[in-house]
Amino acid sequence: MTGWLVVAGLGPGDDALITPEVTAVLAEATDVIGYIPYVARVAAREGLALHPTDNRVELERARHALELAAEGGRVVVVSSGDPGVFAMASAVFEAVETAPEYGDLDIRILPGITAMLAAASRLGAPLGHDFCAINLSDNLKPWELIEHRLRLASQAGFAMAFYNPRSKSRPHQFSRALEVLREECGGQRLISFARAVTTTEEAIQTVTLAEAVPEMADMRTVVIVGNADTRRIGRFVYTPRSVS
Ligand SMILES: C[S@@+](CC[C@H](N)C(=O)[O-])C[C@H]1O[C@@H](n2cnc3c(N)ncnc32)[C@H](O)[C@@H]1O
Repeated sequence: MTGWLVVAGLGPGDDALITPEVTAVLAEATDVIGYIPYVARVAAREGLALHPTDNRVELERARHALELAAEGGRVVVVSSGDPGVFAMASAVFEAVETAPEYGDLDIRILPGITAMLAAASRLGAPLGHDFCAINLSDNLKPWELIEHRLRLASQAGFAMAFYNPRSKSRPHQFSRALEVLREECGGQRLISFARAVTTTEEAIQTVTLAEAVPEMADMRTVVIVGNADTRRIGRFVYTPRSVS
């Protein structure tokens, strides 16, 4: 039997936001691989093996998925949100790069709704003009580079979305990020904290940079900082499509 490997995004949390394409591929799968809470979102059934693993083993997980597919498995690697945004799709290609024997495998990447876009739609339209996304974790890059990018993105006038803003193992860096943002953007710039978007634990708040404190973010939060024109309209936050 010919195997295949699909890397699929499960969206931000609400099952209604899983695309029909991803639902269809999960129904055909023999194996589902991924970080424990993401695999937990896939219903067990006969003929389906679930392979939940810890977060820090992305490359091993990708190699395991390639092996299973090469043996004839119909393998789905699941990510939250979109699999190409700070997630497993890159890890799979990194594994293929070091193991060219898998180069001919049938590999597909199926998109999902990334946290930034789910949060933006809850807020209104904070990403209506140019924006960028930055992962604030220094697990895979030096903190100095993150700070450098924060400054340049601020100076370039981008709205910004931050993934992985703050964790228990690195509680102080987000406080430094807020300092840098205040220096570059001033205290009146709007910053939104969107936690567990589209789940039952969803919590969303918008404050100014002067009012923001690090404890407003955790690892389930995506943070959106507006550009100089971003403003409130009623309960919404929006960024005009043109520059003032
Ligand atoms: C490793 S990244 C994975 C991102 C994912 N691939 C995506 O496209 O959304 C994990 C980070 O995504 C953000 N995130 C994921 N799901 C979220 C949700 N439902 N609400 C808010 N932030 C979320 C958080 O910033 C979290 O620390």
